[in-house]
Amino acid sequence: MIELVNVSKHFETTSGTVEAVNNVSLKIDKGDVFGIIGLSGAGKSTLVRCINLLERPTEGQVLFDGVDLCTLSPAQLREQRRKITMIFQSFNLLSQRTALKNVCYPMEISGVPKAKQLEKAKELLEIVGLSDRMNSYPAQLSGGQKQRVAIARALATDPQVLLCDEATSALDPNTTRSILALLKEINEKLGVTVIIITHEMKVVEQICNRVAVLDHGNVVETGLVKDVFLSPKSEIARDLILPKGGAAKNFTGGRIIRLVFDGQASSEPIVANICLECRAAVNIMGADTKDIGGKAFGQILLQLPGDEASAGRIIKYLDSKGCKYEEVNE
Ligand SMILES: Nc1ncnc2c1ncn2[C@@H]1O[C@H](COP(=O)(O)OP(=O)(O)O)[C@@H](O)[C@H]1O
Ligand SMILES: [Mg+2]
Repeated sequence: MIELVNVSKHFETTSGTVEAVNNVSLKIDKGDVFGIIGLSGAGKSTLVRCINLLERPTEGQVLFDGVDLCTLSPAQLREQRRKITMIFQSFNLLSQRTALKNVCYPMEISGVPKAKQLEKAKELLEIVGLSDRMNSYPAQLSGGQKQRVAIARALATDPQVLLCDEATSALDPNTTRSILALLKEINEKLGVTVIIITHEMKVVEQICNRVAVLDHGNVVETGLVKDVFLSPKSEIARDLILPKGGAAKNFTGGRIIRLVFDGQASSEPIVANICLECRAAVNIMGADTKDIGGKAFGQILLQLPGDEASAGRIIKYLDSKGCKYEEVNE
């Protein structure tokens, strides 16, 4: 549905060229909830603004259903932008307008008759669970409620794609969860493809099926969320995903491994069995479980004993059980 082909965006500034996005190629399919994750300054906002051409790429193509957006006339581009709408961390609501009138706004611009605007805006506010607040002004709404209005407004032109740039970053964890659940519902019920920009792995885990990891303007890793989670290959993905072995430096001793298991494999008491069967003790340096697409995934950071014979026995045991693990170099 959306394909970025070798997209680069460079900014010329007085202090030199900023290479915000470098040669990025990505495919986003219809129906995806696609995550783009990276640290602050990685180029996420620039990349997402290239998708609707708010930012014109310095190089490369942005294809929407096979059409290169860079070749469209301004009028065609305006039409296209109605299909790709956006929500932001800062909500960007019009403060002088009620929730209802905010949702009407894009329809006003595109000349929808007034009665139709109101009917549709009410319908959308119902979908986002805010029917009872339609006459409230933004200042009278909580952050989560404001984002719900922004989502309703973004849906007013019946978009095919919803771009979310750090849409939950200003919200508390519970509100974040409920907004993400709403985005997932919109994806499933209305068939809207959702692209989520975030610096938080937990956002990706909760609703995305695929993810691209962005670092210094480059896509360093892309794939199904569960694959990237089970074996992150890039350093940056590992940083975002791995439990931090905060105590690691205080221990002297053997190698550290990260043991990963999914819902099925976790029924066996692996750590207890390591100790019993290998007659060796391990340090648990961190442990974490995550819910990815409704399935429980877990990981444990273990420090193996310093003596290689014991460590070797443990590795052999893990191999014999078909456990997924990898060495961590802290
Ligand atoms: N209009 C601009 N002019 C110059 N530099 C910019 C501009 N927009 C973004 N940048 C730079 O591009 C890099 C990526 O920024 P951004 O896309 O906002 O990252 P993120 O959203 O991942 O935090 C940063 O170094 C930022 O300073
Ligand atoms: Mg940003």
